[in-house]
Amino acid sequence: MRTEKPVFIPYTPTKLSEAQSLERSKTYYEYMDKRRSLRMFSDRPVAKEIIQNILRTASTAPSGAHKQPWTFCAISAPDLKHKIRHAAEKEEYEGYHRRMSEEWLNDLKPFDTDWQKPFLEVAPWLIVVFRKIYGLNEKGEKINHYYVNESVGLAAGFMLAAIHQAGLVALTHTPSPMNFLGKLLNRPSHEKPFLLLPVGYAPEDAQVPLLTRKPLEEISVFYE
Ligand SMILES: Cc1cc2nc3c(=O)[nH]c(=O)nc-3n(C[C@H](O)[C@H](O)[C@H](O)COP(=O)(O)O)c2cc1C
Repeated sequence: MRTEKPVFIPYTPTKLSEAQSLERSKTYYEYMDKRRSLRMFSDRPVAKEIIQNILRTASTAPSGAHKQPWTFCAISAPDLKHKIRHAAEKEEYEGYHRRMSEEWLNDLKPFDTDWQKPFLEVAPWLIVVFRKIYGLNEKGEKINHYYVNESVGLAAGFMLAAIHQAGLVALTHTPSPMNFLGKLLNRPSHEKPFLLLPVGYAPEDAQVPLLTRKPLEEISVFYE
């Protein structure tokens, strides 16, 4: 049981006029609206420091009781990327040929995807987001984590925003089941793979599927 007195420090918000808030909220929306998932990457290298800053940003996300129940693995080693691609394609082959329902395959048609994932080797970095279902203290005893999925989902969202802000692109990839990632990266059994994100620059000839986002009226309800 914790007995220390809680410590509070002053919080200094960014002070903006209403007009500035309006302008910044609109500009940020327009900027984020340009983010897209890419399934093709340039092989142009990305400095490790940029990836480190992106991971730092992801770790600023809120989390249940501030347990920060995540581990981010960043991979640039070509042999490991090769192994990850191979294992992901094995699962994806099963998915596309046996596991996915007719409806699911139909829903994927606009994206023109298949089991082959060459981008997992072309992208200079792969970031694997793990959710830690519990923590361990220095004595190796279990520490409870709360709202792990919600917390890690938020961290992944912050990460995608940071990737976009850095002028990079990513794919939110889920080659399911993803247990192979824990094995290839030697993660302990209380860390479960959550997302696999290839990260890099978009190639000059990049293309993305045409899609529209639901309008505000469809996704929101105001009670005033
Ligand atoms: C949880 C999650 C899992 C996804 N898994 C895959 C995937 O395995 N393969 C893929 O090509 N795209 C995947 N996507 C990307 C979505 O298809 C994409 O986000 C969606 O079509 C909207 O496009 P946008 O990201 O360009 O706005 C996934 C997205 C999310 C949020």
